[in-house]
Amino acid sequence: MNENRSNFTSKIGFILAAAGSAVGLGNIWRFPYLVAKYGGGTFLLCYIILAITFGFTLMVAEIALGRKTGLSAIGAFKKLDKRFGFLGVLAAVVPIIILPYYSVIGGWVIKYFATFVTGGTKAAAGDDYFTTFIGGVRSPILWFALFVVFTAVVVILGVEKGIETVSKFLMPVLVVLTIGISIYVLTMDGAIEGLKYYIMPHMSDFSVKTLLAAMGQLFYSMSLAMGIMITYGSYMKKSTSLEGSVRQIEIFDTGIAFFAGLMIVPAVFIFSGGDQSALSAGPGLMFITLPKVFASMPMGGFVGTVFFILVFFAAVTSAISLMETIVSILMDRFKWKRKFTCIIVVIYVLLMGIPSSLGFGVWDFIQPIGMSILDFWDFLSNSVLMPIVALFTCIFVGFFIKPKTIIEEASAEGAAFKSKKLFTVMIKWIAPILLVLILISSVMNALGIMSL
Ligand code: TRP
Repeated sequence: MNENRSNFTSKIGFILAAAGSAVGLGNIWRFPYLVAKYGGGTFLLCYIILAITFGFTLMVAEIALGRKTGLSAIGAFKKLDKRFGFLGVLAAVVPIIILPYYSVIGGWVIKYFATFVTGGTKAAAGDDYFTTFIGGVRSPILWFALFVVFTAVVVILGVEKGIETVSKFLMPVLVVLTIGISIYVLTMDGAIEGLKYYIMPHMSDFSVKTLLAAMGQLFYSMSLAMGIMITYGSYMKKSTSLEGSVRQIEIFDTGIAFFAGLMIVPAVFIFSGGDQSALSAGPGLMFITLPKVFASMPMGGFVGTVFFILVFFAAVTSAISLMETIVSILMDRFKWKRKFTCIIVVIYVLLMGIPSSLGFGVWDFIQPIGMSILDFWDFLSNSVLMPIVALFTCIFVGFFIKPKTIIEEASAEGAAFKSKKLFTVMIKWIAPILLVLILISSVMNALGIMSL
C-alpha cells in the first residue's frame, strides 16, 4: 500500500490539492445557509475561533498521522495502535453517508446551470421556482442521476487528473466571481442591514446550537474527521511545513466561505422585504436567493451561467474525491475490480440519494427526528459521526500515541512548529471536553429530550 505513493512536489502543490478537495459545496452552499440561520455574525465569530483553534489542531493531527505512517485512515490508526483500527473504519463511514446527499445538491446545481444557459434567468428568480422544482419527482432525480453518472464516469475512466487541472484554473475564477458578486450585492439598497447581520456578533444570539452548527460545518468544510486529511498527509513530503500548510488551507477555505456568505446573506435581506423567516430557508437558500441577484444585474443571465458552471466544477471535484475514497476502501477490503466497484457505488448512491431528493417534495411527510431526509443524513454525519471520530482522534493522540508524536512529525527536518502549546492543550483537554458536551447536547436535542 505504501509503495508508489507519489509525493506532492511542492508546498503550494500540496496546499492546492488539499484545498481543492476542501473547497466545494460546503463553502458555497452550506456555509451561507448556516450563517443565515444561526445568528449571522455570532455564527461567523464562533466559526472563525473554532477554525483557528480546533480546526487547526485536528488538521495538524490528521495530516501528521498520514505523513508519519504513509497510510490512509484505516491503515494509519491500526499501524500506530491495533486497538484503534475501528476508528479508521468509523471515519470511512462518513464519506459513505455524505456522497449521496452531496450529489443531490450537485444535481440542483446542474439544473440551475441548465436554467441560466437556456435563458431562464427571469423564471429562476420567481418566488416559486425552487419549491416547484424540488417538489417534483422526476426532474430533481434526473439531475441528481446526471451528477452521479458524470462523477462516476470520471472515476471509472480515471481522468481525475484532467478534471483537477481544469478545476485548478477555474477555482480562482470562482473566487474572483464570488467577490465580484458580493461587491455588487453590497451596493444594492438595503444591503447594509444584511451586512450588519452577517458580520456583527450579538452574544444574546449565542446558543449551544450555534456552536454545534459551527463545529459540524468546520468538519464538513475542511474535510476533517473522515480520514481524508490523513490520506492527503500520506502524500505530503517531510520537507513541507505542516503548520504553514494547515494555516494556509484554513485561510483559503474560510476565505471562500466568507465571500460566499457575503454574497448571499445580505441578498436575503434585500429581497425578502424584511421577512426574517427567509433567513432560515436551509439547504435551498443559495438557490432561492442568487437567481434574484442575477435577475437584477446587467448581463445577469451570463453571470448566472458562469457562476453555476463554476460551482458545478467545485462540487464535482469534491464528489469525485468522495467517490474515490469509497471505491478504494471497497477495493482494498473486498478485492473487487475497479469498474465493478464503481458500479456498485453508483447503485448505492442512487438508492440512497433518491429519498433525500424526494424528501423535499412528495416524501416531505417522512421526517426522521423532525428533519427532512437530506437534513437527517447531514445531521447524522456532521453532528454525530464526525464529532465521535474527532473525539476518539483527540483521545488517541492526546493519551495513547501522545501529542509529542505529532509535534515531532510536524517539526520533521527542522520545520518550525510554533503552536506546540496550543496544540497540546487543545488535543488533550479543550477539544475532547467540548466534543463530549456538544455530542451530548446534539443527541439530546435531536431526540427531543432537551431543547437548545
Ligand atoms: N469539504 C468539501 C466541501 O466543502 C466536502 C467534503 C466533505 C469532501 N468530505 C469530503 C470533499 C471528502 C472531498 C473529500 O464541499
